[in-house]
Amino acid sequence: MIIKLYNDIFIFKLFKVNFSNNSEIAPLPDHCDKTWSVILENDTKIMVPSGAIKEKEPPKFPVFFNPAAKFNRDVSIQIYKAFIDSKKGNEISFVDTMTGSGIRGVRVANEIPKITKIIFNDLDYFSVLISKINAILNNVYTRCEFYNKEICNFLSTKINFENRATIVDIDPFGTPAPYLDCVLRSVENGGLISVTATDTAVLCGVYPKVCYRKYYGYPLRTNYSGEIGVRLLVSSIALVASRLDLSIIPVFSHGYRNYIRVYCKILKSNYFANKVHEKLGYVVHCFNCRYRYFVKSLYGISNCNNCHKKVTIGGPLWTSQIFDKELTRRITDSIAESGYRPIESDKLNHNPILDFFAIALSELDDIPFYYVNDEIGKVMKKNVMSVTKIIETLKINGYQSSKTMFAPNGFKTNASITEIQKLLK
Ligand SMILES: C[S@@+](CC[C@H](N)C(=O)[O-])C[C@H]1O[C@@H](n2cnc3c(N)ncnc32)[C@H](O)[C@@H]1O
Ligand SMILES: [Zn+2]
Repeated sequence: MIIKLYNDIFIFKLFKVNFSNNSEIAPLPDHCDKTWSVILENDTKIMVPSGAIKEKEPPKFPVFFNPAAKFNRDVSIQIYKAFIDSKKGNEISFVDTMTGSGIRGVRVANEIPKITKIIFNDLDYFSVLISKINAILNNVYTRCEFYNKEICNFLSTKINFENRATIVDIDPFGTPAPYLDCVLRSVENGGLISVTATDTAVLCGVYPKVCYRKYYGYPLRTNYSGEIGVRLLVSSIALVASRLDLSIIPVFSHGYRNYIRVYCKILKSNYFANKVHEKLGYVVHCFNCRYRYFVKSLYGISNCNNCHKKVTIGGPLWTSQIFDKELTRRITDSIAESGYRPIESDKLNHNPILDFFAIALSELDDIPFYYVNDEIGKVMKKNVMSVTKIIETLKINGYQSSKTMFAPNGFKTNASITEIQKLLK
C-alpha cells in the first residue's frame, strides 16, 4: 500500500486520531519525499518514507528508517524478551529514546506483550508523528506514550526518580557519548540499557584522539579493531556509570560494518562501582610480528616480548566478559524450541539468528582480541586451513579456542601467535 502524504491533517483524518497535544501542525518541508509505504517487518506493519526502502543509503529526512537493520532489531527483541523473563511487578517499561520511525518500540510492543508500557521520544516532530501512526497501525497505541523532546531533557524530566524505566534504548546518528549520563540516570536498579554507536571510524582506530576524549581509551587499527571498539564503548559506559555510583554487567555485544551495539545491566552499587578498574585493561599489539596480549597495567610495557620491536597499546578498555552466557543460553534454547526463524532465512538447515547467538554462547569472551585466518596465512606465507579446522587443532593440542561474533574468519585462543604458527606449520 502506498500512501501519499500531503500534510499532517491527511494523516489525522486517515487514522481518525486527535493528536491534541500537537496543536501546531507543520507541513512537510518541500525537499522531502512525500511518498510513504507500509511494509511488514516480521508481523509489524510500519509506515516509512518510500525513499528508505528504495535508496541505497536510507535518507534522514523526513524520517529515518533503515531496512538493513532488521537483523539488529531481531537480535534486540530476543535479548529484551530473555532479559525481562524473570522480571516481576505490574509495570515493565521500554523507552525508545531516539525512535525514528518508531520501528523498535512498535516491535517491542507487538512481540513482547509482557512489556506493559512503551515510551517513544524523538527530537524530530515527524518522527513522533509517524511513530504514533505506526503504533496505531499495529493496535498497540494504548500501551504507548510519545514525547517530542531533546533526549536528555526528555529523560531527566519524564523518566526520573521513582519513574525510572526497565529498559532504555539509545540509537543516535554517530556517537552515544554525550547522552550516556542521562541514559544511565533513567534506568531502574537491575534494568537494562541498549546502546548503539555508529561512529565506528572513531572506535575502530581512524581518529584515536577523538576516541580518547569520547570513550576514555585509545583504539587499535588492527584486524580485530571491531572488538576493541565494542570494549571501548563498554568501558566508557562503565566509567560514566561508576561516576553515578552505578556498576554495569555487559549482557550482550555485537557489531557489524557501521555499527556497534552493546547491552548492559545496570546495578546501583558503590561497592561494585569501586571495582570498575578490575574489569579494565590494555591490549598490547605488535605490528611487526602480530604478537598480542592483554595486561591490567602498563607498568614495564615497551617492547614486544616476541620480536622486541616497539608495541602499540589499545585502551584502557573492558577486558572482562561481554556476554551473559546464561541469558544467551536461554535465548538459543527458546529459539530452538519455538522453531523461530526470520522470514527471510530461506535455507532450511541454516537459521542465522540461532547461529548468531550460538557463536556468542561459545565465544571466549574473556580474551579481548582474536586472530583472522588470512593474517596467519600471511605471516606463515602459505594458505592456512579453515577457521573450524584451526579451532579443532588448537583444542586437540590443549589450548582453548572458539569462533568469534566479530568476524566469520576469526578465532579466539589463549595460544600466542608463535604457538599458533608452530601448530599450523
Ligand atoms: C538512527 S535514528 C533512530 C533509528 C531508530 N531507533 C530505528 O531503529 O530505526 C536517530 C534518531 O535520533 C533523533 N535524534 C537526534 N538527536 C536527538 C536528540 N538530541 N534527542 C532526541 N532525538 C534525537 C533523530 O531525529 C533520529 O530520528
Ligand atoms: Zn613483535
